[in-house]
Formats: sequence, C-alpha cells, structure tokens
Amino acid sequence: MKRKYRFPFGAMSVTDKTKELVSKVVETGRLSSGRYVREFEAAFAMLIGTKEAVALSSGTDADVLALAVLYDFGANRGDEIIIPALSFVATGNAVLQAGFIPVFVDVKRETLNIDVSKIEAAITDRTKAIMPVHLMGKPADMDRINEIAGKYNLYVIEDAAEAHGSLYKRKAIGTLGDMAAYSLYVAHMISTIEGGVVVTNNTEYAEILRSLRSHGRACKCKICSLNTSDADCKNRFDNEQGMDIRFIFERMGFSSKMNELEAVVGLGNIDIYPEIFKKRRKNLKYLMDKFNEFKPYLVTISEEKHEVIGPHAFPIIVQEKAGFNRNELVQYLEKKGIDSRSLFLSMPTQCSGFKFLKYKLGEFPNAEYMGYNGLHIGVHQDLSYKDLDYFLSVVRSFIKEKLCLRR
Ligand SMILES: Cc1ncc(COP(=O)(O)O)c(C=O)c1O
Repeated sequence: MKRKYRFPFGAMSVTDKTKELVSKVVETGRLSSGRYVREFEAAFAMLIGTKEAVALSSGTDADVLALAVLYDFGANRGDEIIIPALSFVATGNAVLQAGFIPVFVDVKRETLNIDVSKIEAAITDRTKAIMPVHLMGKPADMDRINEIAGKYNLYVIEDAAEAHGSLYKRKAIGTLGDMAAYSLYVAHMISTIEGGVVVTNNTEYAEILRSLRSHGRACKCKICSLNTSDADCKNRFDNEQGMDIRFIFERMGFSSKMNELEAVVGLGNIDIYPEIFKKRRKNLKYLMDKFNEFKPYLVTISEEKHEVIGPHAFPIIVQEKAGFNRNELVQYLEKKGIDSRSLFLSMPTQCSGFKFLKYKLGEFPNAEYMGYNGLHIGVHQDLSYKDLDYFLSVVRSFIKEKLCLRR
C-alpha cells in the first residue's frame, strides 16, 4: 500500500557517532551527568563563541535558571522581568517559575519580536531584566535593548530557544546579553531530545548555574577548587560545621541536570550541525523568496541586511484582506499531509494560565493578531525543494479555491 505523503513539522538526526556513544555510555553504567555532558558543554560554547555553557534538562529550565542567577546579585522574589507578549508559553512560565513577575510588552507585526519603543514605559523600580525572545530565529533589536538595559541598570537574558545560528550585525545571537538560554528539544536545530543550555561569558554566572541545576549545592570545594562531586577532593568535611560539602546547599535550587545519553545525542548533532544549518537555511531562503506571490493574503518575515535568521521554522501570517482564516488554511494543509503549528499566543491575554495577572484582551493587539492568524511550518533537514514546491502548490490551490468561491 502506498504510504500517505507527510510534510512533518520537525526532524531529529541521530548520527552513527551518537549510536556508538550511546552503547558506550550504557556499558560504562555512568548515565547521570558526567564526562559527556561536560564535552557537550565545551562543544556548544565553542559553537556559539562563549566562554561557558551549562547544560540543563530543558529550554524552559534554561530560562528559569538564567533568571534565578539574578538572586545572587540583589534581585528579590516578586521583582519584574520584561518579556514580549508573544512567545511560546515557556518564556512566561519560566519567569513565574523563577519567582519573578512577567511584565509583557507587545511585539511588532513585521518582526514578531518585542517592540523596543514600548520597553521604557514598562520599566518600574522593581524591573531587574529584559528577556527578549528571538522568535523564529529572527534576532530582536539587541542594540536598542542593550542601550535601554544600560540606561536603567538591567540585566539582559536572551531567550534564544529558537535562534541557533542567528546573527545580529555579524555577532552570534547568544553572545549579546548577560546570558542566553537555548532549547535542545527535538524540533530544534541542535537537539538532545529534551534539553536546554545556558551560555555566558561570565564564569561566575556559570558556577551559579551549575549550583542551581543541582539543588543549589556548593559545586566547588573552596580549598582545592575541585568539583564537589569529584572523589579526589580531600577537603570535603573541612568546613566550620564539619559537614560533607556535597550536602551544603548555598541557594534555593532546582533539579535540572542533563544526563549522559542526552549529551551524546547532542554531540552527534553538533558534529553535523554545519550540514543541518546549511540545509535549513537553503529551505528557509527558498520559501522566503517564493512566498512573495501570496502577499496580499499571506506574509512571512523578511531578513534585513544586518542579520541572519536562524532557520528554526517558517512563519506565516494570514492578512486581514485574505477573506479566509488561519484555521481553514491549517485544515487544508493537514488534509494534504502538511503539518503546521500555531504561531503561539499572546501569553497574558490568550493563555488562561496567566489570567491571574489581570491583563485584558486587546492590550496586546499585535501578539493577539498572531494568536488568531499565525502559523509556522518546518524547514528542517529532511525536507527537499520538492517538498517545499509541493507545499507552495498546496497554498496556491487553497487560495485559488477561496478566490473562486468569492466570485
Ligand atoms: C521561545 C521559546 N522559549 C522557551 C522554550 C522552551 O524550551 P523547551 O521546550 O526545551 O523547554 C521554547 C520551546 O520551544 C521556545 O520556543
């Protein structure tokens, strides 16, 4: 029987190196965080161009823990973090999980990113950080964000969950704030299946992140500087209370470590990252170029001269003049085997989990517009130009059908 055609949303590459390492790790019996996690961290830091990378159990935890670092630098529970109203819900959840209050700012429709002209009005005495999201790999306006952060003495933590490989004015996204948080979930360009990672050039932040991911424990012996989980440390009990330093908890922590099996999947992905990136970029550019023909009805984002959009996915926004709605298009695509996802929601006004913050529908018109009218499809390494042409032809016939019905 002929298999039904499928244009899947995401893809995940499991390389031969990964398969080899998985057996090796299983044989050694050391499955929790260890040497391969450290290897993955070094490789990821090198890829982004930061001094440090701290591997975690999810991209959400990466957001949460990066924010929780701020407690070591004078932040208090209940302080405020500025984030865009439009993102995957994890961004807002992370702020609350870290013990802060999210203060939402609407996005710009053309970029899907935080509208920097509205940030200053959202700053109060309790604001501690701005957390821009580079949605769909499109870099947020980092120069302006850093300028505002400098003026008001705020931290900048990039939510780079979708921005592997993005560049802003020739600099890598992930290197432009104090810390940056990546997701390594399956549909993302580098994946550890589930997983996340925070990158930073600040060694002190990295040490705090290592402590936070492991229940807040003291991670380094203050005498010999060895990792406290390292059996070679002879000074474990050498402290005022005579306690095992592995059981001294310096801060309120989390349980967010990456394990060795996830790390070797990530190492395999990093090996083939240049190919994955190239393939995805070609696919993204191909769709961006061809999509102009649908302009009065459907639009996407565009790439400006100063940036490279990380090829995470391909966003589509149904325009007011279209005469059809997003759900009709999604159902049509689905019937033809093409998988899509909504372009997220306005977290404060379209996600009921945030109701208690008492925002009202209508306060974030651009984010809300995406919530009703946006979708995105994959541009991943398993899709060929033939698949993309097929997708374009399906969109073409959908629009044709709709126009005929209108006549
Ligand atoms: C913008 C954004 N932030 C955070 C996350 C959370 O990542 P994870 O699903 O790995 O927890 C995602 C997930 O895709 C995301 O898109």
